[in-house]
Amino acid sequence: MAIPASVLHPPFNIVRLSHIVLTVTDLQASRAFYVDTLGLQVTSEDDRRIYLRALEERGHHCIVLEKGDAGIANEMGFKVFEEDDLDRAKAHFNKRGLAADWVDVTHQGRTLRTRDPQGIPLEFYARMDRLPAIHQKYALYKGVKPLRIDHFNCFSPDVRASVEFYNSIGFRMTEYTDTEDGSELWAAWMHRKGGVHDIAFTNGFGPRLHHVAFWVPTPLNIIDLLDVMATTGYVGNIERGPGRHGVSNAFFLYIRDPDGHRIEIYCSDYQTVDPDLEPIRWDLKDPQRQTLWGAPAPRSWFEEGRVFRGVEPSMSKLKSTPIVAP
Ligand SMILES: [Fe+2]
Repeated sequence: MAIPASVLHPPFNIVRLSHIVLTVTDLQASRAFYVDTLGLQVTSEDDRRIYLRALEERGHHCIVLEKGDAGIANEMGFKVFEEDDLDRAKAHFNKRGLAADWVDVTHQGRTLRTRDPQGIPLEFYARMDRLPAIHQKYALYKGVKPLRIDHFNCFSPDVRASVEFYNSIGFRMTEYTDTEDGSELWAAWMHRKGGVHDIAFTNGFGPRLHHVAFWVPTPLNIIDLLDVMATTGYVGNIERGPGRHGVSNAFFLYIRDPDGHRIEIYCSDYQTVDPDLEPIRWDLKDPQRQTLWGAPAPRSWFEEGRVFRGVEPSMSKLKSTPIVAP
């Protein structure tokens, strides 16, 4: 079955992914992980929330840690080009039968919240509080030296349906994995900002958040982080890698935060801005799609994820089994 053609003139203009709100059970434990270990910068905090940005970012937050009873995922945020895009987005979602409401969000201008057809909570805004540049304040570079949020990855019970929705609002596919007979999509990587992806979907019990990724300067920053985590009580939080992906060609490491939220540390994928870029197909049975060097991903990587607030996951419709480690 053919993959859908890109929508080159979408109903509204999304610039890039922006931020996510993660519920955590212990703000101080999360602060030790995200700030003291990874090196994200605190932009504001109180006894309910910690707002963080990475070192290249001018917007107020790329991740919000919010205190709660269990580690769940909340809104995935996207920046649109201008205010009018928000009105066009609302009209588009309503036309599709999706509720879309204006909400007040601290440090953000007019913000539109909706859910995708599978229930993933989304929010869109045009303007966020802007902060002074710190990318040349090298004294602030700590931990893995995170530069910017790079992408979201979600389990989807129906990847083709996810691709259809995000395709319709302008996300363009860069790479995908097919089932053996080519009849169904197992996974898809889709972008707005000109990298391999702003968002990706993998077949599985979902929707659930699989991971959030941060871009770092070099693979050596990832090696340094591993040395630090291995000697500061975080060895059990190292889940997969380091390695080089087949899909995306990026260097990667997967780690888990104190509540089990999976964070990917990521660098060096490639430019994808051409509107006629041909998506790259991977075979589900090819172990090099996961890791170019051949090492399979652990079972936890295929099975564990975090639920989104207010949505009950369902079983995936595909039955194929990926290659996993014993
Ligand atoms: Fe990723």
